[in-house]
Amino acid sequence: MRKLLFLLFSLFIFAASAQELSLIPQPASVAVNDGKFLLEDGAVLRYPKIDGLSAVAGNFVNEIRLATGVKVKASAYKSVGKVKCKDCCIVLLLDERLPAEGYELSVKKNNVTVSASQAAGFFYALQTLKQLMPRNVMAGVPDESVTEWSVPCVDIADAPRFGWRGFMLDEGRHFYGKEEVKRIIDVMAAYKMNRFHWHLTEDQGWRIEIRKYPKLTEVGAWRDSKVCAWGDVKPDGIRYGGYYTRNDIEEVVEYAKERFIEIVPEVDIPGHSQAAVASYPEFLACDPENSHEVWLWQGVSGDVINVANPKAVQFAKDVIDELTEMFPFGYIHLGGDECPTRKWERNADCRALLKEIGSDNYRDLQIHFYKQLKEHIAQKPAEKQRKLIFWNEVLHGNTGPLGNDITIMAWIGADGAAKDAAARGMNTILSPQIPYYINRRQSDLPTEPVSQGYGHETVERVYNYKPMDGVAEDLQPKYLGVQANFWTEWVVEPSVVQYLMLPRLAAVAEAGWSPAEKRNYDSFVNRLQGEADYYRLKGVDFGKHVFKK
Ligand code: ACM
Repeated sequence: MRKLLFLLFSLFIFAASAQELSLIPQPASVAVNDGKFLLEDGAVLRYPKIDGLSAVAGNFVNEIRLATGVKVKASAYKSVGKVKCKDCCIVLLLDERLPAEGYELSVKKNNVTVSASQAAGFFYALQTLKQLMPRNVMAGVPDESVTEWSVPCVDIADAPRFGWRGFMLDEGRHFYGKEEVKRIIDVMAAYKMNRFHWHLTEDQGWRIEIRKYPKLTEVGAWRDSKVCAWGDVKPDGIRYGGYYTRNDIEEVVEYAKERFIEIVPEVDIPGHSQAAVASYPEFLACDPENSHEVWLWQGVSGDVINVANPKAVQFAKDVIDELTEMFPFGYIHLGGDECPTRKWERNADCRALLKEIGSDNYRDLQIHFYKQLKEHIAQKPAEKQRKLIFWNEVLHGNTGPLGNDITIMAWIGADGAAKDAAARGMNTILSPQIPYYINRRQSDLPTEPVSQGYGHETVERVYNYKPMDGVAEDLQPKYLGVQANFWTEWVVEPSVVQYLMLPRLAAVAEAGWSPAEKRNYDSFVNRLQGEADYYRLKGVDFGKHVFKK
Protein backbone atom coordinates (compact mmCIF):
# COMPACT_ATOMS: atom_id res chain seq x y z
CA MET A 1 0.00 0.00 0.00
CA ARG A 2 2.80 2.39 0.94
CA LYS A 3 4.55 1.50 -2.31
CA LEU A 4 1.41 2.22 -4.31
CA LEU A 5 0.95 5.56 -2.57
CA PHE A 6 4.58 6.45 -3.27
CA LEU A 7 4.13 5.53 -6.95
CA LEU A 8 0.97 7.66 -7.23
CA PHE A 9 2.72 10.52 -5.49
CA SER A 10 5.70 10.26 -7.87
CA LEU A 11 3.37 10.20 -10.88
CA PHE A 12 1.61 13.31 -9.59
CA ILE A 13 4.93 15.14 -9.16
CA PHE A 14 6.03 14.06 -12.65
CA ALA A 15 2.76 15.25 -14.21
CA ALA A 16 3.02 18.59 -12.40
CA SER A 17 6.59 19.23 -13.56
CA ALA A 18 5.90 18.10 -17.14
CA GLN A 19 3.02 20.55 -17.30
CA GLU A 20 3.67 23.29 -19.82
CA LEU A 21 4.08 26.83 -18.63
CA SER A 22 2.03 29.37 -20.53
CA LEU A 23 5.05 31.15 -21.93
CA ILE A 24 5.04 32.80 -25.36
CA PRO A 25 7.44 32.71 -27.07
CA GLN A 26 8.58 29.28 -25.94
CA PRO A 27 11.97 29.67 -24.23
CA ALA A 28 14.97 27.74 -25.50
CA SER A 29 15.09 25.62 -22.34
CA VAL A 30 12.68 25.30 -19.39
CA ALA A 31 12.83 23.08 -16.30
CA VAL A 32 9.89 23.30 -13.90
CA ASN A 33 10.74 22.52 -10.29
CA ASP A 34 8.66 22.02 -7.14
CA GLY A 35 7.39 24.94 -5.17
CA LYS A 36 6.74 28.57 -5.79
CA PHE A 37 8.16 32.00 -5.06
CA LEU A 38 5.78 34.39 -3.31
CA LEU A 39 6.13 38.05 -4.16
CA GLU A 40 5.28 40.12 -1.09
CA ASP A 41 5.70 43.61 0.32
CA GLY A 42 9.27 44.22 1.37
CA ALA A 43 10.68 42.35 -1.63
CA VAL A 44 13.85 43.85 -3.08
CA LEU A 45 15.24 43.96 -6.58
CA ARG A 46 19.03 44.43 -6.75
CA TYR A 47 20.66 45.33 -10.05
CA PRO A 48 24.15 46.14 -11.30
CA LYS A 49 24.95 49.61 -12.60
CA ILE A 50 24.93 49.17 -16.36
CA ASP A 51 23.49 51.38 -19.09
CA GLY A 52 19.72 51.32 -19.27
CA LEU A 53 19.18 48.95 -16.37
CA SER A 54 17.91 51.39 -13.76
CA ALA A 55 14.99 52.23 -16.12
CA VAL A 56 14.31 48.51 -16.61
CA ALA A 57 14.30 47.90 -12.85
CA GLY A 58 12.27 51.04 -12.10
CA ASN A 59 9.62 50.23 -14.71
CA PHE A 60 9.34 46.65 -13.46
CA VAL A 61 8.81 47.73 -9.88
CA ASN A 62 6.21 50.33 -10.93
CA GLU A 63 4.32 47.85 -13.10
CA ILE A 64 4.26 45.28 -10.28
CA ARG A 65 2.93 47.86 -7.84
CA LEU A 66 0.25 49.01 -10.28
CA ALA A 67 -0.95 45.49 -11.06
CA THR A 68 -0.54 43.77 -7.67
CA GLY A 69 -0.17 46.48 -5.03
CA VAL A 70 3.03 44.73 -3.87
CA LYS A 71 5.83 47.18 -3.08
CA VAL A 72 9.17 45.99 -4.40
CA LYS A 73 12.19 48.17 -3.64
CA ALA A 74 14.72 48.50 -6.46
CA SER A 75 18.32 49.38 -5.63
CA ALA A 76 21.57 49.34 -7.59
CA TYR A 77 24.75 47.65 -6.36
CA LYS A 78 28.35 48.31 -7.33
CA SER A 79 29.90 44.89 -6.89
CA VAL A 80 28.44 41.41 -6.64
CA GLY A 81 30.16 40.86 -3.28
CA LYS A 82 27.91 43.55 -1.82
CA VAL A 83 24.61 41.97 -2.88
CA LYS A 84 22.94 41.09 0.38
CA CYS A 85 19.58 39.55 -0.16
CA LYS A 86 18.12 36.56 1.59
CA ASP A 87 14.35 36.34 1.39
CA CYS A 88 11.93 37.51 -1.24
CA CYS A 89 14.53 39.10 -3.43
CA ILE A 90 15.17 39.35 -7.11
CA VAL A 91 18.84 39.68 -7.98
CA LEU A 92 20.13 40.66 -11.42
CA LEU A 93 23.66 39.46 -12.18
CA LEU A 94 25.91 40.44 -15.07
CA ASP A 95 27.16 37.49 -17.09
CA GLU A 96 29.21 38.62 -20.07
CA ARG A 97 29.09 35.13 -21.58
CA LEU A 98 25.40 35.39 -22.41
CA PRO A 99 24.28 36.68 -25.85
CA ALA A 100 22.99 40.26 -26.22
CA GLU A 101 19.28 39.53 -25.76
CA GLY A 102 19.67 36.23 -23.88
CA TYR A 103 19.13 35.56 -20.19
CA GLU A 104 18.97 32.90 -17.51
CA LEU A 105 16.19 32.96 -14.96
CA SER A 106 16.19 30.83 -11.84
CA VAL A 107 13.16 31.01 -9.57
CA LYS A 108 13.64 29.37 -6.15
CA LYS A 109 11.31 29.42 -3.15
CA ASN A 110 13.08 32.36 -1.51
CA ASN A 111 14.61 34.26 -4.35
CA VAL A 112 14.85 34.86 -8.06
CA THR A 113 18.17 35.16 -9.88
CA VAL A 114 18.46 36.64 -13.36
CA SER A 115 21.66 36.64 -15.41
CA ALA A 116 22.25 38.56 -18.63
CA SER A 117 25.02 40.47 -20.36
CA GLN A 118 22.98 43.52 -21.38
CA ALA A 119 19.94 45.51 -20.32
CA ALA A 120 17.84 43.89 -23.10
CA GLY A 121 18.46 40.41 -21.68
CA PHE A 122 17.38 41.54 -18.20
CA PHE A 123 14.29 43.16 -19.70
CA TYR A 124 13.30 39.92 -21.45
CA ALA A 125 13.92 37.89 -18.28
CA LEU A 126 11.57 40.20 -16.38
CA GLN A 127 8.99 39.89 -19.18
CA THR A 128 9.17 36.11 -18.67
CA LEU A 129 8.81 36.58 -14.90
CA LYS A 130 5.67 38.68 -15.44
CA GLN A 131 4.28 36.08 -17.85
CA LEU A 132 4.72 33.44 -15.11
CA MET A 133 2.42 35.46 -12.83
CA PRO A 134 -1.36 35.98 -13.14
CA ARG A 135 -2.28 37.53 -16.48
CA ASN A 136 -3.15 40.97 -15.12
CA VAL A 137 0.53 41.55 -14.32
CA MET A 138 1.58 41.65 -17.99
CA ALA A 139 -1.59 43.61 -18.76
CA GLY A 140 -0.52 46.15 -16.13
CA VAL A 141 -3.92 46.37 -14.42
CA PRO A 142 -5.18 45.27 -10.98
CA ASP A 143 -7.22 42.07 -10.64
CA GLU A 144 -9.20 41.81 -7.39
CA SER A 145 -9.84 38.10 -7.93
CA VAL A 146 -6.14 37.21 -7.47
CA THR A 147 -5.19 36.46 -3.86
CA GLU A 148 -1.57 35.41 -4.22
CA TRP A 149 1.27 36.78 -6.36
CA SER A 150 3.32 33.66 -6.90
CA VAL A 151 5.72 32.36 -9.54
CA PRO A 152 6.40 28.63 -10.05
CA CYS A 153 9.98 27.55 -9.37
CA VAL A 154 11.75 27.22 -12.73
CA ASP A 155 15.13 27.26 -14.40
CA ILE A 156 15.04 28.92 -17.82
CA ALA A 157 17.91 29.51 -20.24
CA ASP A 158 16.81 31.57 -23.18
CA ALA A 159 17.98 33.57 -26.20
CA PRO A 160 16.31 34.52 -29.49
CA ARG A 161 16.77 32.61 -32.72
CA PHE A 162 16.71 35.84 -34.79
CA GLY A 163 17.81 39.39 -34.03
CA TRP A 164 14.90 40.88 -36.05
CA ARG A 165 11.41 40.16 -34.72
CA GLY A 166 9.24 42.76 -36.32
CA PHE A 167 5.75 44.05 -36.86
CA MET A 168 4.72 46.61 -39.48
CA LEU A 169 1.71 48.89 -39.15
CA ASP A 170 0.46 50.84 -42.17
CA GLU A 171 -0.93 54.17 -41.01
CA GLY A 172 -0.90 55.72 -44.47
CA ARG A 173 -4.31 54.25 -45.35
CA HIS A 174 -5.83 54.73 -41.91
CA PHE A 175 -4.55 56.68 -38.94
CA TYR A 176 -4.92 55.33 -35.39
CA GLY A 177 -2.87 57.69 -33.22
CA LYS A 178 -0.16 57.32 -30.61
CA GLU A 179 -2.18 55.64 -27.85
CA GLU A 180 -3.01 52.76 -30.18
CA VAL A 181 0.61 52.54 -31.31
CA LYS A 182 1.74 52.35 -27.67
CA ARG A 183 -0.74 49.54 -27.00
CA ILE A 184 0.71 47.62 -29.94
CA ILE A 185 4.23 48.27 -28.66
CA ASP A 186 3.20 46.85 -25.26
CA VAL A 187 1.92 43.64 -26.86
CA MET A 188 5.05 43.35 -29.01
CA ALA A 189 7.24 43.74 -25.92
CA ALA A 190 5.22 41.09 -24.08
CA TYR A 191 6.13 38.71 -26.93
CA LYS A 192 9.78 39.84 -26.99
CA MET A 193 9.49 41.47 -30.41
CA ASN A 194 12.02 44.20 -31.10
CA ARG A 195 11.31 46.09 -34.35
CA PHE A 196 8.29 48.32 -34.96
CA HIS A 197 8.21 49.14 -38.66
CA TRP A 198 6.07 52.25 -39.01
CA HIS A 199 4.70 52.65 -42.55
CA LEU A 200 4.04 56.38 -42.40
CA THR A 201 3.36 57.46 -45.98
CA GLU A 202 1.10 56.25 -48.72
CA ASP A 203 -0.86 57.36 -51.79
CA GLN A 204 -3.77 57.86 -49.36
CA GLY A 205 -1.98 59.89 -46.67
CA TRP A 206 1.30 61.35 -45.37
CA ARG A 207 1.39 60.92 -41.59
CA ILE A 208 4.53 62.56 -40.23
CA GLU A 209 5.36 66.22 -39.78
CA ILE A 210 8.35 67.32 -41.87
CA ARG A 211 9.26 70.89 -40.89
CA LYS A 212 10.82 71.84 -44.21
CA TYR A 213 7.73 70.72 -46.16
CA PRO A 214 4.64 71.72 -44.10
CA LYS A 215 2.21 71.01 -46.95
CA LEU A 216 2.93 67.28 -46.54
CA THR A 217 0.70 67.39 -43.48
CA GLU A 218 -1.43 70.45 -44.31
CA VAL A 219 -2.46 68.86 -47.62
CA GLY A 220 -1.07 65.32 -47.75
CA ALA A 221 -2.48 64.10 -44.42
CA TRP A 222 -6.12 64.68 -45.41
CA ARG A 223 -8.49 63.22 -47.95
CA ASP A 224 -12.17 63.37 -48.84
CA SER A 225 -13.11 59.83 -47.88
CA LYS A 226 -12.83 57.83 -44.69
CA VAL A 227 -12.96 54.52 -46.56
CA CYS A 228 -10.31 53.71 -49.12
CA ALA A 229 -12.73 53.15 -51.97
CA TRP A 230 -12.75 50.05 -54.14
CA GLY A 231 -15.17 48.52 -56.66
CA ASP A 232 -18.72 49.38 -55.66
CA VAL A 233 -17.57 51.03 -52.41
CA LYS A 234 -17.28 54.61 -53.57
CA PRO A 235 -15.51 57.47 -51.73
CA ASP A 236 -17.83 58.54 -48.87
CA GLY A 237 -17.00 62.28 -48.92
CA ILE A 238 -16.04 62.33 -45.23
CA ARG A 239 -13.02 64.56 -44.54
CA TYR A 240 -10.51 62.16 -42.97
CA GLY A 241 -6.88 62.16 -41.87
CA GLY A 242 -4.30 62.91 -39.21
CA TYR A 243 -0.57 62.89 -38.65
CA TYR A 244 2.13 62.67 -36.01
CA THR A 245 3.81 65.87 -34.82
CA ARG A 246 7.45 66.00 -33.74
CA ASN A 247 6.30 65.83 -30.12
CA ASP A 248 4.17 62.75 -30.79
CA ILE A 249 7.10 61.02 -32.45
CA GLU A 250 9.41 61.88 -29.57
CA GLU A 251 6.91 60.40 -27.11
CA VAL A 252 6.52 57.17 -29.08
CA VAL A 253 10.29 56.85 -29.61
CA GLU A 254 10.91 57.09 -25.84
CA TYR A 255 8.13 54.60 -25.17
CA ALA A 256 9.55 52.10 -27.66
CA LYS A 257 13.13 52.53 -26.41
CA GLU A 258 12.09 51.67 -22.85
CA ARG A 259 10.69 48.42 -24.22
CA PHE A 260 13.77 47.58 -26.29
CA ILE A 261 11.92 48.12 -29.54
CA GLU A 262 13.64 49.96 -32.36
CA ILE A 263 11.36 51.92 -34.63
CA VAL A 264 11.98 51.58 -38.35
CA PRO A 265 10.27 54.57 -40.01
CA GLU A 266 9.21 54.00 -43.61
CA VAL A 267 8.60 56.69 -46.18
CA ASP A 268 7.61 54.79 -49.29
CA ILE A 269 9.18 56.64 -52.25
CA PRO A 270 9.10 57.15 -55.23
CA GLY A 271 5.96 54.96 -55.65
CA HIS A 272 3.01 54.93 -53.23
CA SER A 273 3.61 58.69 -53.04
CA GLN A 274 0.48 60.34 -54.42
CA ALA A 275 -0.18 62.17 -51.11
CA ALA A 276 3.30 63.76 -51.33
CA VAL A 277 2.81 64.54 -55.02
CA ALA A 278 -0.52 66.21 -54.22
CA SER A 279 1.26 68.36 -51.59
CA TYR A 280 4.08 69.58 -53.86
CA PRO A 281 3.07 68.83 -57.48
CA GLU A 282 5.30 71.66 -58.73
CA PHE A 283 8.44 69.56 -58.21
CA LEU A 284 7.27 66.06 -57.26
CA ALA A 285 4.81 65.37 -60.09
CA CYS A 286 5.88 64.03 -63.47
CA ASP A 287 3.03 66.14 -64.93
CA PRO A 288 2.69 69.28 -62.76
CA GLU A 289 0.35 70.79 -65.35
CA ASN A 290 -2.37 68.33 -64.25
CA SER A 291 -4.22 68.41 -60.92
CA HIS A 292 -3.21 65.99 -58.15
CA GLU A 293 -5.10 65.01 -55.00
CA VAL A 294 -4.53 62.68 -52.06
CA TRP A 295 -5.83 59.35 -53.33
CA LEU A 296 -9.28 58.15 -52.28
CA TRP A 297 -8.95 54.65 -53.71
CA GLN A 298 -7.20 51.39 -52.90
CA GLY A 299 -4.64 49.85 -55.20
CA VAL A 300 -1.38 51.12 -56.62
CA SER A 301 -1.41 54.69 -57.91
CA GLY A 302 0.59 55.55 -61.02
CA ASP A 303 1.17 59.08 -59.72
CA VAL A 304 4.79 58.57 -58.68
CA ILE A 305 7.55 61.06 -57.85
CA ASN A 306 9.51 62.50 -60.78
CA VAL A 307 12.93 61.04 -59.96
CA ALA A 308 14.56 63.09 -62.75
CA ASN A 309 13.74 66.40 -61.03
CA PRO A 310 16.73 67.50 -58.85
CA LYS A 311 14.26 69.21 -56.49
CA ALA A 312 12.55 65.86 -55.89
CA VAL A 313 15.91 64.30 -55.05
CA GLN A 314 16.63 67.20 -52.67
CA PHE A 315 13.17 66.70 -51.12
CA ALA A 316 13.96 63.06 -50.37
CA LYS A 317 17.33 64.00 -48.85
CA ASP A 318 15.65 66.61 -46.63
CA VAL A 319 13.04 64.11 -45.48
CA ILE A 320 15.79 61.62 -44.61
CA ASP A 321 17.58 64.34 -42.61
CA GLU A 322 14.47 64.96 -40.51
CA LEU A 323 13.78 61.24 -40.05
CA THR A 324 17.36 60.87 -38.83
CA GLU A 325 16.75 63.60 -36.24
CA MET A 326 13.49 62.05 -35.06
CA PHE A 327 14.43 58.36 -34.97
CA PRO A 328 17.69 57.54 -33.13
CA PHE A 329 17.75 53.96 -34.40
CA GLY A 330 19.67 51.91 -36.95
CA TYR A 331 17.44 51.78 -40.02
CA ILE A 332 15.31 53.83 -42.40
CA HIS A 333 12.98 52.04 -44.84
CA LEU A 334 12.53 53.76 -48.20
CA GLY A 335 9.83 51.43 -49.53
CA GLY A 336 10.35 50.66 -53.20
CA ASP A 337 7.45 48.27 -53.78
CA GLU A 338 4.89 48.49 -56.58
CA CYS A 339 6.27 51.55 -58.36
CA PRO A 340 4.65 51.90 -61.79
CA THR A 341 6.95 53.45 -64.41
CA ARG A 342 4.31 54.71 -66.90
CA LYS A 343 4.71 58.37 -65.95
CA TRP A 344 8.50 58.14 -66.24
CA GLU A 345 8.14 56.57 -69.68
CA ARG A 346 6.09 59.59 -70.80
CA ASN A 347 8.38 62.20 -69.25
CA ALA A 348 11.24 63.61 -71.37
CA ASP A 349 13.53 64.27 -68.37
CA CYS A 350 13.09 60.72 -67.11
CA ARG A 351 13.80 59.27 -70.56
CA ALA A 352 16.92 61.43 -70.84
CA LEU A 353 18.13 60.39 -67.39
CA LEU A 354 17.63 56.72 -68.19
CA LYS A 355 19.79 57.16 -71.29
CA GLU A 356 22.41 59.05 -69.27
CA ILE A 357 22.76 56.18 -66.77
CA GLY A 358 23.07 53.74 -69.67
CA SER A 359 20.03 51.58 -69.04
CA ASP A 360 16.77 50.73 -70.76
CA ASN A 361 15.12 49.34 -67.61
CA TYR A 362 13.00 52.02 -65.92
CA ARG A 363 13.46 50.25 -62.56
CA ASP A 364 17.06 51.48 -62.74
CA LEU A 365 15.79 55.07 -62.51
CA GLN A 366 14.42 54.15 -59.09
CA ILE A 367 17.77 52.64 -58.13
CA HIS A 368 19.60 55.75 -59.37
CA PHE A 369 17.31 57.83 -57.11
CA TYR A 370 18.12 55.62 -54.10
CA LYS A 371 21.83 55.68 -54.91
CA GLN A 372 21.87 59.47 -54.49
CA LEU A 373 20.03 59.15 -51.15
CA LYS A 374 22.44 56.50 -49.94
CA GLU A 375 25.41 58.71 -50.89
CA HIS A 376 23.78 61.57 -48.99
CA ILE A 377 23.55 59.41 -45.84
CA ALA A 378 27.14 58.21 -46.28
CA GLN A 379 28.36 61.81 -45.90
CA LYS A 380 26.83 62.15 -42.44
CA PRO A 381 28.79 61.72 -39.18
CA ALA A 382 28.80 58.26 -37.61
CA GLU A 383 25.94 58.90 -35.16
CA LYS A 384 23.68 59.92 -38.05
CA GLN A 385 24.42 56.94 -40.26
CA ARG A 386 21.37 54.84 -41.04
CA LYS A 387 21.13 51.58 -42.93
CA LEU A 388 18.57 51.39 -45.72
CA ILE A 389 15.84 48.81 -46.19
CA PHE A 390 13.83 48.26 -49.39
CA TRP A 391 10.95 46.00 -50.40
CA ASN A 392 12.09 43.19 -52.66
CA GLU A 393 10.96 44.70 -56.00
CA VAL A 394 14.21 46.68 -55.94
CA LEU A 395 15.88 43.41 -56.96
CA HIS A 396 14.16 43.75 -60.36
CA GLY A 397 16.69 46.42 -61.31
CA ASN A 398 20.46 46.45 -61.46
CA THR A 399 21.25 46.83 -57.76
CA GLY A 400 25.01 47.19 -58.44
CA PRO A 401 25.04 50.99 -57.85
CA LEU A 402 23.42 50.47 -54.42
CA GLY A 403 26.12 48.08 -53.23
CA ASN A 404 25.20 45.15 -51.02
CA ASP A 405 25.11 46.87 -47.63
CA ILE A 406 21.34 47.26 -47.86
CA THR A 407 18.56 45.08 -46.46
CA ILE A 408 15.81 43.54 -48.53
CA MET A 409 12.43 43.01 -46.93
CA ALA A 410 11.04 40.00 -48.78
CA TRP A 411 7.25 39.95 -49.16
CA ILE A 412 6.25 38.79 -52.64
CA GLY A 413 7.69 35.41 -53.57
CA ALA A 414 9.43 35.96 -50.25
CA ASP A 415 11.48 32.79 -49.92
CA GLY A 416 12.94 33.16 -53.43
CA ALA A 417 13.47 36.91 -53.10
CA ALA A 418 15.24 36.49 -49.76
CA LYS A 419 17.56 33.88 -51.26
CA ASP A 420 18.24 36.18 -54.22
CA ALA A 421 19.09 39.05 -51.84
CA ALA A 422 21.31 36.85 -49.66
CA ALA A 423 23.10 35.49 -52.74
CA ARG A 424 23.82 39.12 -53.75
CA GLY A 425 25.41 39.60 -50.31
CA MET A 426 22.53 41.67 -48.89
CA ASN A 427 20.80 41.14 -45.57
CA THR A 428 17.18 40.10 -45.72
CA ILE A 429 14.04 39.93 -43.58
CA LEU A 430 11.25 37.43 -44.19
CA SER A 431 7.78 38.98 -44.26
CA PRO A 432 5.99 36.65 -46.69
CA GLN A 433 2.64 38.02 -47.85
CA ILE A 434 1.24 34.53 -47.40
CA PRO A 435 0.97 33.91 -44.46
CA TYR A 436 2.57 36.87 -42.60
CA TYR A 437 0.20 39.61 -43.79
CA ILE A 438 -1.88 39.34 -40.66
CA ASN A 439 -4.39 41.92 -41.86
CA ARG A 440 -5.87 39.10 -43.96
CA ARG A 441 -8.86 37.26 -42.46
CA GLN A 442 -8.21 34.58 -39.83
CA SER A 443 -10.92 32.22 -41.09
CA ASP A 444 -13.63 31.90 -43.73
CA LEU A 445 -16.42 32.48 -41.19
CA PRO A 446 -18.93 35.12 -42.27
CA THR A 447 -18.29 36.96 -39.00
CA GLU A 448 -14.76 37.93 -40.10
CA PRO A 449 -14.26 41.60 -40.94
CA VAL A 450 -13.76 42.59 -44.55
CA SER A 451 -10.06 42.58 -45.31
CA GLN A 452 -7.42 41.94 -47.91
CA GLY A 453 -7.91 39.32 -50.60
CA TYR A 454 -10.27 36.37 -50.78
CA GLY A 455 -8.23 33.86 -48.80
CA HIS A 456 -7.53 33.71 -45.12
CA GLU A 457 -4.55 32.87 -42.91
CA THR A 458 -5.43 30.74 -39.91
CA VAL A 459 -3.37 30.91 -36.72
CA GLU A 460 -2.09 27.45 -37.62
CA ARG A 461 -0.99 28.51 -41.08
CA VAL A 462 0.83 31.53 -39.72
CA TYR A 463 2.44 29.44 -37.01
CA ASN A 464 3.56 26.70 -39.36
CA TYR A 465 5.51 28.94 -41.74
CA LYS A 466 9.14 27.83 -41.35
CA PRO A 467 11.51 30.75 -41.77
CA MET A 468 14.80 30.02 -43.50
CA ASP A 469 13.74 26.43 -44.20
CA GLY A 470 16.14 24.73 -46.59
CA VAL A 471 18.42 27.77 -46.90
CA ALA A 472 22.08 26.87 -47.45
CA GLU A 473 24.18 27.33 -44.32
CA ASP A 474 26.49 29.90 -45.90
CA LEU A 475 23.52 32.19 -46.70
CA GLN A 476 21.85 31.91 -43.29
CA PRO A 477 23.84 34.73 -41.60
CA LYS A 478 22.18 37.11 -44.10
CA TYR A 479 18.72 36.31 -42.70
CA LEU A 480 18.10 38.91 -40.01
CA GLY A 481 14.73 37.52 -39.01
CA VAL A 482 10.99 37.68 -39.48
CA GLN A 483 8.24 40.27 -39.60
CA ALA A 484 4.44 40.32 -39.66
CA ASN A 485 2.88 43.12 -41.72
CA PHE A 486 -0.47 44.84 -41.32
CA TRP A 487 -1.93 46.81 -44.26
CA THR A 488 -4.94 48.93 -43.50
CA GLU A 489 -6.82 49.76 -46.71
CA TRP A 490 -9.84 47.92 -45.33
CA VAL A 491 -9.37 48.56 -41.63
CA VAL A 492 -10.82 51.82 -40.35
CA GLU A 493 -11.14 51.03 -36.63
CA PRO A 494 -8.26 50.18 -34.26
CA SER A 495 -10.32 47.40 -32.65
CA VAL A 496 -10.32 45.61 -36.02
CA VAL A 497 -6.54 45.97 -36.22
CA GLN A 498 -6.37 44.28 -32.82
CA TYR A 499 -8.84 41.54 -33.79
CA LEU A 500 -6.91 40.59 -36.91
CA MET A 501 -3.47 41.04 -35.38
CA LEU A 502 -4.09 38.82 -32.37
CA PRO A 503 -3.24 36.15 -31.62
CA ARG A 504 -1.35 35.73 -34.92
CA LEU A 505 1.29 38.23 -33.82
CA ALA A 506 2.18 35.78 -31.05
CA ALA A 507 2.71 33.04 -33.66
CA VAL A 508 5.16 35.23 -35.60
CA ALA A 509 6.91 36.28 -32.38
CA GLU A 510 7.52 32.63 -31.58
CA ALA A 511 8.96 32.00 -35.07
CA GLY A 512 11.37 34.86 -34.43
CA TRP A 513 12.39 33.85 -30.94
CA SER A 514 12.13 30.11 -30.28
CA PRO A 515 14.56 27.49 -31.61
CA ALA A 516 13.12 25.82 -34.75
CA GLU A 517 13.17 22.38 -33.08
CA LYS A 518 11.13 23.67 -30.11
CA ARG A 519 8.24 24.93 -32.21
CA ASN A 520 5.06 22.88 -32.12
CA TYR A 521 1.58 24.11 -33.02
CA ASP A 522 -0.35 22.00 -30.46
CA SER A 523 1.91 23.20 -27.69
CA PHE A 524 1.51 26.80 -28.93
CA VAL A 525 -2.30 26.56 -28.84
CA ASN A 526 -2.09 25.12 -25.32
CA ARG A 527 0.14 27.92 -24.12
CA LEU A 528 -2.02 30.47 -25.93
CA GLN A 529 -5.18 29.74 -23.94
CA GLY A 530 -4.20 32.06 -21.06
CA GLU A 531 -3.61 34.91 -23.50
CA ALA A 532 -7.37 35.48 -23.86
CA ASP A 533 -7.32 36.85 -20.29
CA TYR A 534 -4.26 38.97 -21.07
CA TYR A 535 -6.00 40.49 -24.10
CA ARG A 536 -9.24 41.13 -22.18
CA LEU A 537 -7.43 42.75 -19.26
CA LYS A 538 -5.33 44.79 -21.66
CA GLY A 539 -8.52 45.94 -23.37
CA VAL A 540 -7.61 44.72 -26.86
CA ASP A 541 -9.80 42.69 -29.17
CA PHE A 542 -8.56 39.42 -30.68
CA GLY A 543 -9.61 36.58 -32.98
CA LYS A 544 -11.33 33.93 -30.84
CA HIS A 545 -10.98 30.98 -33.25
CA VAL A 546 -8.42 28.93 -31.35
CA PHE A 547 -9.53 29.76 -27.82
CA LYS A 548 -11.52 27.11 -26.01
CA LYS A 549 -13.44 29.45 -23.70
C1 ACM B 1 3.70 45.40 -50.16
O1 ACM B 1 2.91 44.57 -49.69
N1 ACM B 1 3.32 46.17 -51.18
C2 ACM B 1 5.03 45.56 -49.61
